[in-house]
Amino acid sequence: MSIVIITGGSRGLGASTAIQCAARGMGVILTYNSNPDAANAIVAEIEEECGKAVALHLDVADSASFSAFRDQVRDALQTHWHRHDFDALVNNAGYGFYSPIATVTEEEFDGLFRVHLKGPFFLTQTLLPLIADGGHIVNVASATSRVATAGVAPYASFKGGLEVLTRYMAKEFGDRRIRANSIAPGAIKTELGGGLNDEFEALLASQTALGRVGEPDDIGRMIASLLSDDNRWVNAQNIEVAGGYII
Ligand SMILES: NC(=O)c1ccc[n+]([C@@H]2O[C@H](COP(=O)([O-])OP(=O)(O)OC[C@H]3O[C@@H](n4cnc5c(N)ncnc54)[C@H](OP(=O)(O)O)[C@@H]3O)[C@@H](O)[C@H]2O)c1
Repeated sequence: MSIVIITGGSRGLGASTAIQCAARGMGVILTYNSNPDAANAIVAEIEEECGKAVALHLDVADSASFSAFRDQVRDALQTHWHRHDFDALVNNAGYGFYSPIATVTEEEFDGLFRVHLKGPFFLTQTLLPLIADGGHIVNVASATSRVATAGVAPYASFKGGLEVLTRYMAKEFGDRRIRANSIAPGAIKTELGGGLNDEFEALLASQTALGRVGEPDDIGRMIASLLSDDNRWVNAQNIEVAGGYII
């Protein structure tokens, strides 16, 4: 059984990814930050369908905690799967924040940097010894790094950095046959940044070739399929998953 770790797997895109990976027979370690009940509910949903999942706490902003997290992952792998390594890491955890460049504070900027770029960088570095040769890393970026959207400059800049980092991961981990890709969702109906209001949703839908905004499963299914062997030659790519947003 292959095993995937999904950060921010308690809600939204990460929760859908966890469920879709489990449905394809993968073992799942999902992380939460502030909401253990939501994480446990996803574990229960997976177990109801006879899948296997474990929830662990992780604050992606707190890189000092990563080595303790690695120890917890090692224990969970041994206890639940009798393994000492895992196959895929999905760096998904994140939050939205709207503020124009004219007013964003250093503290707000640094908070977004820690979660969206520094966190994935050092979490991947910390977990690398536990990723099996031939494994896969998926970084969740954003279509906002292609289409400038007023009010999300730091967020989009770090997501753009994550796309670049992905190519470097592919380059440096290739000798272990570890693939690295990023995916760039368009607007998806989740609680990110307080969710989409009706007016903004209608605008985004009108700018999308398929005529609607995305649902979490549009992304969860895509990530689960990207992790499969069918996509084994897809490497070092940023793949937009947005229904044809502003094309
Ligand atoms: N929704 C969109 O339109 C969209 C578009 C493009 C990209 N994305 C990206 O997709 C990813 C998931 O977003 P989403 O829409 O699914 O958001 P969401 O529904 O708000 O879920 C966010 C998830 O991330 C976790 N999280 C937040 N801050 C964290 C931290 N400091 N450390 C660890 N975990 C943390 C949350 O855990 P707790 O609830 O336990 O705190 C939750 O599981 C993000 O990276 C986001 O930037 C989303």
